Amino acid sequence: MSAPRAFDFTGDIAIVTGAGSRMDGEIGNGRATAILLARAGAKVALLDFNVDWANETKRMIDEEGGVSHVIKTDVTDEESCKAAVARTVEIFGAVHCLVNIVGVGGAIGDATVVNLEAWERDFRLNVTSMVLMARYAIPEMRKQGRGSIVNMSSVSGSDRRLHAVLGGNPSLLYPTTKGAIIQMTRAMAAQHGQENIRVNCVCPGMVFTPMTRGRGMTDEMRQARINQNLMKKEGTGWDVGYAILFLSSKEAGWITGLIMPVDGGVSPTRPPPSFLRFFFESSLLSVCSYLAMTDFLRVANCCAQTTAGKADRPALKADTLAEDITGIKNEN
Ligand SMILES: NC(=O)c1ccc[n+]([C@@H]2O[C@H](COP(=O)([O-])OP(=O)(O)OC[C@H]3O[C@@H](n4cnc5c(N)ncnc54)[C@H](O)[C@@H]3O)[C@@H](O)[C@H]2O)c1
Repeated sequence: MSAPRAFDFTGDIAIVTGAGSRMDGEIGNGRATAILLARAGAKVALLDFNVDWANETKRMIDEEGGVSHVIKTDVTDEESCKAAVARTVEIFGAVHCLVNIVGVGGAIGDATVVNLEAWERDFRLNVTSMVLMARYAIPEMRKQGRGSIVNMSSVSGSDRRLHAVLGGNPSLLYPTTKGAIIQMTRAMAAQHGQENIRVNCVCPGMVFTPMTRGRGMTDEMRQARINQNLMKKEGTGWDVGYAILFLSSKEAGWITGLIMPVDGGVSPTRPPPSFLRFFFESSLLSVCSYLAMTDFLRVANCCAQTTAGKADRPALKADTLAEDITGIKNEN
């Protein structure tokens, strides 16, 4: 008898929100995740507001012999989330995995200028939508005695070393919502751990996906984004998708509450201000100064090439996806 294959999702039913991609035929985080789950044997419910974009994902899955079904869903609408979960159960019989991908750059500017209507729209889109999906997926997972939820955050909302919110973005909305997703993930993991429902989170770095590339990214900006990681290598939706595949798998069955960076090593290069302050203010200064300075120089060297964590970094053009759908302007 052969040993069981690892990362086999045969018999598992997965829901992926934002399973489409805003660029024809291109690979975003949601599309890559859906394809990889289907490739591993899962039956995948492809939830998206834009049915054409999700159908393109289904076409790609069909081509590989995978099983999926498109369900038109607005994840900001509770009834729509409820109906999408019910439809998934109707078609495939159960729900084991939920991957909450939907999110936008959205509302622009700092607290003094941000359009509060857009702020509330995007808080609902980036954060509340994940609660709404979980509200209806978790009861189905309970029936199966197990479940996995993976939420999409960003390095804009996290820091690998401190596991705290760093901020540093020209807009207040994006890092605030992505930071909220991290803490929500931890809280949900604590609430549902004893039910054998795991809740984890991925924090992609500057991956080259349709969400960013269509927004006026020059070759220089693209190279600067690549330079921010330790590997000097560009990340893609596939890199993010594989991390989500792992976290959703039975092999990750003892992993919950994890905030996983997928960033080629961007986050460890950021200066941890409180950490350095500790060294400089501490009575151990003389002992530690050499170590602190070498660490500082290493960090400063990396940060000389990076715009991560800086509020005045050159911004991409606004992400108008939510503006286009709702008619609410990103800016006042
Ligand atoms: N590209 C990056 O560098 C990067 C980095 C970190 C995190 N992310 C995160 O990745 C996610 C975007 O993933 P992607 O690359 O697949 O993006 P994408 O923009 O190509 O796809 C997003 C999909 O979500 C759908 N959608 C939007 N609003 C919806 C709604 N109300 N209901 C249902 N579906 C809706 C869209 O129709 C689209 O198909 C976001 O959460 C973003 O914050 C991206």
